[in-house]
Amino acid sequence: MTKKTIAVLTSGGDCAGLNAVIRAVTDHAAGTKHWSVIGIKNGHLGLLEKPRQIVRLTVDSVRGDLMRAGGTMLGTTTRGDPFEFPGADGSVTDRSGEVVNALKSVGVDGVVVIGGDGSMRLFHRLLTPAGIPWVGVPKTIDNDVPGTDFAVGFFSAVDIVSDSLDRLASTAASHKRIMVLEVMGRDSGYIAMFGGIAGGADAILIPEIEYDIDKLAAHINKITHARPSPVLIVVAEGAHRPPGDRRTGGDVGQSIAFHLQKRTNIEARCTVLGHLQRGGSPIAFDRLIASSFGVHAVDLLAQNISGRLVAWQRGIVTDVRIEEAVTGPRLVPINGETVKTARGLGIYIGELTG
Ligand code: F6P
Repeated sequence: MTKKTIAVLTSGGDCAGLNAVIRAVTDHAAGTKHWSVIGIKNGHLGLLEKPRQIVRLTVDSVRGDLMRAGGTMLGTTTRGDPFEFPGADGSVTDRSGEVVNALKSVGVDGVVVIGGDGSMRLFHRLLTPAGIPWVGVPKTIDNDVPGTDFAVGFFSAVDIVSDSLDRLASTAASHKRIMVLEVMGRDSGYIAMFGGIAGGADAILIPEIEYDIDKLAAHINKITHARPSPVLIVVAEGAHRPPGDRRTGGDVGQSIAFHLQKRTNIEARCTVLGHLQRGGSPIAFDRLIASSFGVHAVDLLAQNISGRLVAWQRGIVTDVRIEEAVTGPRLVPINGETVKTARGLGIYIGELTG
Protein backbone atom coordinates (compact mmCIF):
# COMPACT_ATOMS: atom_id res chain seq x y z
CA MET A 1 0.00 0.00 0.00
CA THR A 2 1.25 3.51 -0.84
CA LYS A 3 2.72 5.53 1.98
CA LYS A 4 0.76 8.73 2.44
CA THR A 5 1.08 12.04 4.22
CA ILE A 6 -2.15 13.10 5.85
CA ALA A 7 -3.22 16.15 7.81
CA VAL A 8 -5.64 16.30 10.70
CA LEU A 9 -7.33 19.38 12.15
CA THR A 10 -10.13 20.37 14.49
CA SER A 11 -12.61 23.05 13.48
CA GLY A 12 -15.59 24.76 15.12
CA GLY A 13 -16.53 24.76 18.80
CA ASP A 14 -14.57 22.33 20.94
CA CYS A 15 -15.96 19.41 22.94
CA ALA A 16 -14.73 16.42 24.88
CA GLY A 17 -13.22 13.67 22.74
CA LEU A 18 -11.37 15.70 20.09
CA ASN A 19 -7.96 14.59 21.36
CA ALA A 20 -9.16 11.00 21.33
CA VAL A 21 -9.88 11.33 17.59
CA ILE A 22 -6.46 12.94 16.95
CA ARG A 23 -4.81 10.11 18.84
CA ALA A 24 -6.75 7.43 16.91
CA VAL A 25 -5.95 9.02 13.53
CA THR A 26 -2.27 9.26 14.44
CA ASP A 27 -2.01 5.79 15.97
CA HIS A 28 -3.66 4.16 12.97
CA ALA A 29 -2.01 6.22 10.23
CA ALA A 30 1.48 6.61 11.72
CA GLY A 31 1.53 3.51 13.90
CA THR A 32 -0.07 0.77 11.83
CA LYS A 33 0.27 2.21 8.31
CA HIS A 34 3.61 4.03 8.76
CA TRP A 35 2.28 7.18 7.10
CA SER A 36 3.35 10.72 7.96
CA VAL A 37 0.79 12.68 9.94
CA ILE A 38 0.74 16.42 10.42
CA GLY A 39 -1.54 18.39 12.69
CA ILE A 40 -2.79 21.78 11.54
CA LYS A 41 -3.27 24.24 14.36
CA ASN A 42 -6.40 26.31 14.97
CA GLY A 43 -8.44 24.87 12.12
CA HIS A 44 -7.87 26.53 8.77
CA LEU A 45 -6.27 29.54 10.51
CA GLY A 46 -3.01 27.62 10.97
CA LEU A 47 -2.67 27.52 7.18
CA LEU A 48 -3.11 31.28 6.82
CA GLU A 49 -0.33 32.15 9.21
CA LYS A 50 3.30 32.69 8.29
CA PRO A 51 5.01 30.46 9.18
CA ARG A 52 2.23 27.87 8.83
CA GLN A 53 1.12 26.47 12.15
CA ILE A 54 1.66 22.78 11.60
CA VAL A 55 3.11 20.08 13.83
CA ARG A 56 4.32 16.59 13.08
CA LEU A 57 2.27 13.97 14.91
CA THR A 58 3.86 10.67 15.84
CA VAL A 59 2.74 7.72 17.89
CA ASP A 60 4.96 9.05 20.68
CA SER A 61 3.44 12.51 20.54
CA VAL A 62 -0.08 11.16 21.17
CA ARG A 63 0.87 8.62 23.82
CA GLY A 64 -0.05 9.06 27.48
CA ASP A 65 -3.00 11.08 28.67
CA LEU A 66 -4.05 12.61 25.36
CA MET A 67 -7.15 10.43 24.95
CA ARG A 68 -8.34 11.47 28.40
CA ALA A 69 -7.63 15.19 27.93
CA GLY A 70 -10.41 17.70 27.23
CA GLY A 71 -10.19 20.37 24.52
CA THR A 72 -8.00 19.89 21.46
CA MET A 73 -4.21 19.79 21.41
CA LEU A 74 -4.38 21.37 17.94
CA GLY A 75 -6.58 24.30 18.90
CA THR A 76 -9.68 25.21 16.93
CA THR A 77 -11.63 28.18 15.63
CA THR A 78 -15.19 29.29 14.98
CA ARG A 79 -14.00 32.45 13.24
CA GLY A 80 -12.24 33.76 10.16
CA ASP A 81 -14.32 32.38 7.27
CA PRO A 82 -11.60 32.08 4.58
CA PHE A 83 -14.08 33.02 1.85
CA GLU A 84 -14.83 36.30 3.62
CA PHE A 85 -11.82 36.77 5.82
CA PRO A 86 -12.26 39.79 8.09
CA GLY A 87 -9.46 42.34 8.09
CA ALA A 88 -8.56 44.59 11.04
CA ASP A 89 -9.96 47.59 9.09
CA GLY A 90 -13.36 45.95 8.63
CA SER A 91 -12.67 44.81 5.06
CA VAL A 92 -13.26 41.23 3.90
CA THR A 93 -10.99 39.25 1.57
CA ASP A 94 -11.35 35.86 -0.07
CA ARG A 95 -8.37 33.91 1.30
CA SER A 96 -9.72 30.46 0.44
CA GLY A 97 -7.05 30.02 -2.26
CA GLU A 98 -4.33 30.53 0.35
CA VAL A 99 -5.71 27.70 2.47
CA VAL A 100 -5.83 25.34 -0.50
CA ASN A 101 -2.37 26.33 -1.74
CA ALA A 102 -0.89 25.89 1.72
CA LEU A 103 -2.24 22.35 1.89
CA LYS A 104 -0.96 21.58 -1.59
CA SER A 105 2.48 22.95 -0.84
CA VAL A 106 2.73 20.88 2.34
CA GLY A 107 2.05 17.92 0.05
CA VAL A 108 -0.81 16.18 1.82
CA ASP A 109 -2.52 13.17 0.25
CA GLY A 110 -5.57 13.54 2.45
CA VAL A 111 -7.11 15.54 5.28
CA VAL A 112 -9.15 14.44 8.27
CA VAL A 113 -11.45 17.28 9.31
CA ILE A 114 -12.88 16.88 12.80
CA GLY A 115 -15.81 19.28 12.94
CA GLY A 116 -19.51 19.98 13.09
CA ASP A 117 -21.92 20.65 10.24
CA GLY A 118 -20.61 24.20 9.69
CA SER A 119 -17.04 22.91 9.36
CA MET A 120 -18.14 20.16 6.98
CA ARG A 121 -19.78 22.81 4.83
CA LEU A 122 -16.63 24.97 4.91
CA PHE A 123 -14.18 22.20 4.03
CA HIS A 124 -16.50 20.75 1.39
CA ARG A 125 -16.40 24.16 -0.28
CA LEU A 126 -12.63 24.45 0.16
CA LEU A 127 -11.30 20.98 -0.57
CA THR A 128 -13.72 19.23 -2.90
CA PRO A 129 -13.32 21.62 -5.89
CA ALA A 130 -9.54 21.69 -5.26
CA GLY A 131 -9.39 17.90 -5.60
CA ILE A 132 -7.80 17.43 -2.16
CA PRO A 133 -8.98 14.11 -0.71
CA TRP A 134 -10.62 14.49 2.69
CA VAL A 135 -12.95 12.83 5.13
CA GLY A 136 -14.96 14.33 7.98
CA VAL A 137 -15.31 13.14 11.56
CA PRO A 138 -18.44 14.52 13.24
CA LYS A 139 -18.03 16.25 16.58
CA THR A 140 -20.37 18.55 18.45
CA ILE A 141 -22.12 18.55 21.77
CA ASP A 142 -25.27 19.62 19.89
CA ASN A 143 -25.41 16.26 18.02
CA ASP A 144 -26.86 18.10 15.04
CA VAL A 145 -24.65 16.75 12.23
CA PRO A 146 -26.87 14.91 9.73
CA GLY A 147 -25.95 11.35 8.71
CA THR A 148 -24.73 10.09 12.08
CA ASP A 149 -26.74 9.01 15.11
CA PHE A 150 -24.10 10.44 17.43
CA ALA A 151 -21.23 12.91 17.17
CA VAL A 152 -18.10 12.91 19.33
CA GLY A 153 -18.64 15.01 22.47
CA PHE A 154 -22.41 14.67 22.64
CA PHE A 155 -22.66 12.03 25.34
CA SER A 156 -20.05 13.75 27.53
CA ALA A 157 -22.26 16.87 27.45
CA VAL A 158 -25.35 14.77 28.19
CA ASP A 159 -23.53 13.27 31.16
CA ILE A 160 -22.79 16.75 32.52
CA VAL A 161 -26.47 17.75 32.12
CA SER A 162 -27.63 14.61 33.87
CA ASP A 163 -25.10 15.07 36.67
CA SER A 164 -26.18 18.72 37.04
CA LEU A 165 -29.81 17.66 37.39
CA ASP A 166 -28.78 15.20 40.12
CA ARG A 167 -27.19 18.09 41.97
CA LEU A 168 -30.08 20.47 41.35
CA ALA A 169 -32.55 17.82 42.51
CA SER A 170 -31.26 17.83 46.07
CA THR A 171 -31.22 21.60 46.45
CA ALA A 172 -34.61 21.83 44.70
CA ALA A 173 -36.00 19.35 47.21
CA SER A 174 -34.53 21.20 50.22
CA HIS A 175 -36.13 24.50 49.18
CA LYS A 176 -39.13 23.11 47.31
CA ARG A 177 -38.20 25.15 44.29
CA ILE A 178 -38.54 24.98 40.56
CA MET A 179 -35.05 24.58 39.12
CA VAL A 180 -34.61 25.55 35.49
CA LEU A 181 -31.45 24.26 33.83
CA GLU A 182 -30.58 26.00 30.56
CA VAL A 183 -28.39 23.85 28.34
CA MET A 184 -26.72 24.43 24.97
CA GLY A 185 -28.46 23.74 21.68
CA ARG A 186 -29.23 26.73 19.48
CA ASP A 187 -31.16 24.85 16.82
CA SER A 188 -31.42 21.30 18.07
CA GLY A 189 -32.73 20.01 21.36
CA TYR A 190 -30.69 16.81 21.54
CA ILE A 191 -28.70 17.74 24.65
CA ALA A 192 -31.84 18.89 26.46
CA MET A 193 -33.80 15.80 25.45
CA PHE A 194 -31.19 13.16 26.26
CA GLY A 195 -29.87 14.97 29.37
CA GLY A 196 -33.37 15.75 30.62
CA ILE A 197 -34.58 12.18 30.35
CA ALA A 198 -31.39 10.82 31.94
CA GLY A 199 -31.56 13.36 34.78
CA GLY A 200 -35.25 12.90 35.60
CA ALA A 201 -36.59 16.25 34.35
CA ASP A 202 -40.28 17.08 34.78
CA ALA A 203 -40.31 19.22 31.63
CA ILE A 204 -37.99 19.61 28.62
CA LEU A 205 -38.29 22.56 26.24
CA ILE A 206 -36.52 22.35 22.90
CA PRO A 207 -36.40 24.57 19.80
CA GLU A 208 -38.21 21.96 17.70
CA ILE A 209 -41.44 21.97 19.75
CA GLU A 210 -43.74 24.86 20.64
CA TYR A 211 -44.87 25.00 24.25
CA ASP A 212 -47.52 26.86 26.17
CA ILE A 213 -46.21 28.50 29.34
CA ASP A 214 -49.66 28.31 30.99
CA LYS A 215 -49.93 24.62 30.22
CA LEU A 216 -46.42 24.09 31.58
CA ALA A 217 -47.44 25.93 34.78
CA ALA A 218 -50.57 23.76 34.97
CA HIS A 219 -48.38 20.67 34.55
CA ILE A 220 -46.21 21.83 37.44
CA ASN A 221 -49.26 22.49 39.61
CA LYS A 222 -50.54 19.02 38.78
CA ILE A 223 -47.34 17.19 39.67
CA THR A 224 -46.81 19.27 42.82
CA HIS A 225 -50.53 19.30 43.76
CA ALA A 226 -50.33 23.12 43.59
CA ARG A 227 -48.02 23.34 46.60
CA PRO A 228 -44.27 24.01 46.70
CA SER A 229 -42.43 20.88 45.70
CA PRO A 230 -39.20 20.26 43.76
CA VAL A 231 -39.48 20.56 40.01
CA LEU A 232 -36.73 20.15 37.38
CA ILE A 233 -37.08 21.86 34.00
CA VAL A 234 -34.51 21.57 31.21
CA VAL A 235 -34.52 24.33 28.60
CA ALA A 236 -32.41 24.34 25.43
CA GLU A 237 -30.88 27.75 24.79
CA GLY A 238 -32.71 27.86 21.45
CA ALA A 239 -36.15 27.14 22.96
CA HIS A 240 -38.90 29.64 22.16
CA ARG A 241 -39.28 32.54 24.55
CA PRO A 242 -42.47 32.82 26.58
CA PRO A 243 -45.10 35.03 24.93
CA GLY A 244 -44.82 38.70 25.81
CA ASP A 245 -41.11 38.33 26.58
CA ARG A 246 -39.46 40.97 24.48
CA ARG A 247 -35.90 40.41 25.60
CA THR A 248 -33.53 39.01 22.98
CA GLY A 249 -30.29 37.09 23.22
CA GLY A 250 -29.44 34.50 25.90
CA ASP A 251 -31.29 33.94 29.18
CA VAL A 252 -34.34 32.07 27.90
CA GLY A 253 -34.06 29.83 30.99
CA GLN A 254 -34.16 32.86 33.28
CA SER A 255 -37.25 34.13 31.52
CA ILE A 256 -39.02 30.78 31.83
CA ALA A 257 -38.16 30.60 35.54
CA PHE A 258 -39.62 34.09 36.04
CA HIS A 259 -42.87 33.23 34.24
CA LEU A 260 -43.27 29.94 36.06
CA GLN A 261 -42.76 31.49 39.50
CA LYS A 262 -45.39 34.10 38.66
CA ARG A 263 -47.90 31.48 37.56
CA THR A 264 -47.30 28.78 40.21
CA ASN A 265 -46.23 30.78 43.25
CA ILE A 266 -43.38 28.33 43.63
CA GLU A 267 -39.96 29.94 43.90
CA ALA A 268 -37.92 29.37 40.74
CA ARG A 269 -34.20 29.59 40.03
CA CYS A 270 -32.25 29.23 36.79
CA THR A 271 -28.80 27.77 36.19
CA VAL A 272 -27.12 28.28 32.83
CA LEU A 273 -24.73 25.40 32.20
CA GLY A 274 -22.94 27.07 29.27
CA HIS A 275 -19.44 26.00 28.33
CA LEU A 276 -19.17 23.56 31.21
CA GLN A 277 -20.85 21.19 28.75
CA ARG A 278 -17.88 21.40 26.40
CA GLY A 279 -15.00 21.10 28.84
CA GLY A 280 -13.30 18.24 30.62
CA SER A 281 -12.49 14.64 29.94
CA PRO A 282 -14.62 12.57 27.53
CA ILE A 283 -16.79 9.81 28.98
CA ALA A 284 -16.15 6.22 27.87
CA PHE A 285 -18.65 6.20 24.99
CA ASP A 286 -17.10 9.32 23.45
CA ARG A 287 -13.65 7.76 23.71
CA LEU A 288 -15.01 4.69 21.97
CA ILE A 289 -16.66 6.47 19.05
CA ALA A 290 -13.75 8.92 18.77
CA SER A 291 -11.37 5.97 18.45
CA SER A 292 -13.59 4.10 15.98
CA PHE A 293 -14.15 7.23 13.90
CA GLY A 294 -10.44 8.02 13.75
CA VAL A 295 -9.54 4.52 12.59
CA HIS A 296 -12.36 4.48 10.03
CA ALA A 297 -11.35 7.88 8.64
CA VAL A 298 -7.79 6.67 8.00
CA ASP A 299 -9.11 3.45 6.43
CA LEU A 300 -11.19 5.51 4.00
CA LEU A 301 -8.17 7.58 2.96
CA ALA A 302 -6.15 4.36 2.60
CA GLN A 303 -8.72 3.21 0.02
CA ASN A 304 -8.47 6.60 -1.71
CA ILE A 305 -12.05 7.34 -0.75
CA SER A 306 -12.81 11.04 -0.31
CA GLY A 307 -15.80 13.25 0.47
CA ARG A 308 -17.28 11.01 3.15
CA LEU A 309 -18.41 11.69 6.69
CA VAL A 310 -17.62 8.94 9.16
CA ALA A 311 -20.82 8.02 10.97
CA TRP A 312 -22.29 5.94 13.77
CA GLN A 313 -25.52 4.33 12.68
CA ARG A 314 -27.38 1.82 14.83
CA GLY A 315 -24.23 0.63 16.58
CA ILE A 316 -22.12 0.36 13.45
CA VAL A 317 -19.33 2.66 12.27
CA THR A 318 -19.91 3.54 8.64
CA ASP A 319 -19.69 6.57 6.36
CA VAL A 320 -22.07 8.72 4.36
CA ARG A 321 -21.73 11.19 1.50
CA ILE A 322 -20.48 14.55 2.72
CA GLU A 323 -23.39 16.16 0.82
CA GLU A 324 -25.67 14.55 3.40
CA ALA A 325 -23.71 16.00 6.29
CA VAL A 326 -23.98 19.56 5.03
CA THR A 327 -27.77 19.68 5.06
CA GLY A 328 -27.87 20.41 8.79
CA PRO A 329 -28.55 21.23 11.45
CA ARG A 330 -30.21 17.91 12.25
CA LEU A 331 -33.23 18.33 14.50
CA VAL A 332 -34.76 16.06 17.13
CA PRO A 333 -37.35 14.01 15.23
CA ILE A 334 -40.83 14.69 16.58
CA ASN A 335 -41.80 11.07 15.98
CA GLY A 336 -38.51 9.73 17.31
CA GLU A 337 -37.53 7.54 20.21
CA THR A 338 -36.67 10.21 22.78
CA VAL A 339 -39.88 12.17 22.23
CA LYS A 340 -41.83 8.93 22.64
CA THR A 341 -39.90 8.08 25.81
CA ALA A 342 -40.36 11.55 27.32
CA ARG A 343 -44.08 11.51 26.62
CA GLY A 344 -44.36 7.99 27.99
CA LEU A 345 -42.75 9.20 31.22
CA GLY A 346 -45.21 12.08 31.53
CA ILE A 347 -42.52 14.71 30.95
CA TYR A 348 -43.97 17.95 29.55
CA ILE A 349 -42.22 18.61 26.24
CA GLY A 350 -44.61 21.08 24.68
CA GLU A 351 -47.75 21.03 22.64
CA LEU A 352 -47.72 17.93 20.48
CA THR A 353 -50.84 16.42 19.07
CA GLY A 354 -51.22 12.74 18.19
O1 F6P B 1 -22.25 24.58 18.40
C1 F6P B 1 -22.01 24.15 19.71
C2 F6P B 1 -22.34 25.18 20.69
O2 F6P B 1 -21.97 24.57 21.86
C3 F6P B 1 -23.78 25.70 20.75
O3 F6P B 1 -24.69 24.86 21.39
C4 F6P B 1 -23.61 27.02 21.45
O4 F6P B 1 -24.63 27.92 21.18
C5 F6P B 1 -22.31 27.49 20.88
O5 F6P B 1 -21.56 26.35 20.59
C6 F6P B 1 -21.53 28.43 21.74
O6 F6P B 1 -20.35 28.73 21.06
P1 F6P B 1 -19.25 29.78 21.52
O7 F6P B 1 -18.06 28.96 21.85
O8 F6P B 1 -19.03 30.62 20.33
O9 F6P B 1 -19.76 30.52 22.69
